[in-house]
Parts: sequence; structure tokens; C-alpha cells
Amino acid sequence: MPETTRLEVPRLMEVLIASADIRRRVCELGNQIARDYPDSTPLLVGVLNGCICFVSDLMQAIAIPHELDFVSVSSYGAASESSRNPRLVKDLEKTIAGRDVILVEDIVDSGHTLHFLRETLLSRSPRSLRIAALLDKSERRERTIPLDYVGFEVPDRFLVGYGLDFAERFRHLPYIAALSPAEIEAEPGHHEEVA
Ligand code: IMP
Ligand code: MG
Repeated sequence: MPETTRLEVPRLMEVLIASADIRRRVCELGNQIARDYPDSTPLLVGVLNGCICFVSDLMQAIAIPHELDFVSVSSYGAASESSRNPRLVKDLEKTIAGRDVILVEDIVDSGHTLHFLRETLLSRSPRSLRIAALLDKSERRERTIPLDYVGFEVPDRFLVGYGLDFAERFRHLPYIAALSPAEIEAEPGHHEEVA
């Protein structure tokens, strides 16, 4: 199949946030973060794998010195459902005691993942801990999470693109799209997945 065909917007998707709008908003968040840390070198902690596009663009928009590290969280659930019982499958390389830390997440849904990560990182005594989330699906929240930097409020639909996947597909799309229920129903079932 030629590449042009393989990269077309799949028929069962609706584009909700265009690439240019994502880039503009991520720049605004980067500027805000740079202003908020005038005397510090914050550590961005990306939550793999969904954060990759967001953290990559965000760091380029933060015009002050900062560092980067990653965690990875796994949870049991269907590919389109939320994460229960999250656990750390990849820990930080750096120690964070006394540091200003910013967790960078693609999307907050039920809030279980960030609740778990927040508790885990707070127990290591950082000087401060803030959260940057590109997307906030607040209707679905089961855990209250203080979000410091939010890109966009999004509806309760299953979203893909710009790092977000559906069973490992569609991460590469440069926009955020909603998947149709028909596409979700074709899903193979429950499995262990990385947030
Ligand atoms: P939470 O623990 O329910 O807040 O879920 C957070 C994680 O679930 C995110 O890091 C995403 O990896 C995944 N997730 C939640 N909603 C979506 C979605 O609409 N599309 C893709 N992944 C999602
Ligand atoms: Mg994620």
C-alpha cells in the first residue's frame, strides 16, 4: 500500500484538535512554565508512552534550563477503558528530593494514574510537584487531581493521535481525533497496557 494511503485520516475518526492548535497551545504552556520557574531548573517527568509528542514539543517551548526524565505506568484494563491498579514499570533515573518536578501526561481520564504517580513522587520529598496535562477529560474523573497546566478540556470520547494510542495504533497522527464506537468495538479485548 502506498504511504499516502496509509497516512490518510482513517474513516472512523473525527479530528477534534488540529495540529496547529496543539502547537499554539503547547507554546503557551511552555511560556507559562518558564515564567513560573525563574530561579530553578525544573525536572520534567514524562509519563511514557503517551507523553512523547507533548513532552517533546513542550520542552522546546520552555525557554529556561530544565531537565528530563521518564516513568512508565502499567495497568490492567481494556484498551479503551481507564486504568485501575496502576503500577510503576519504569522508574525515574534521577533522584528528586529537593527538586521542582513537573509531571507531564498526555490525558487525565479517571485520574487513577496521576493519583498513583503523585503519591509515589511526593513520598520522595521533591521541593514542589506540579502537573502538566495536554488533555483533561474531566467528566470521567474518579480521583481529584490538582492540574497546574492544562492544554485542552476534552469530551468523554476515546481520543487518539499526538502520542495517544488505541491498542498501540494511531500515536503518530499529528492531530487529536475521536475514535468512533464502531472502531472501539472491534477491539480484541482486555490486556495489560502501558499508559
Ligand atoms: P486515568 O488513569 O484513567 O486518568 O488514565 C490515564 C491514562 O489512560 C492516560 O495516560 C492514557 O494513556 C490513557 N487514556 C485515557 N483516556 C484515553 C483516551 O481517550 N485515549 C487514549 N488513551 C487514554
Ligand atoms: Mg498516558
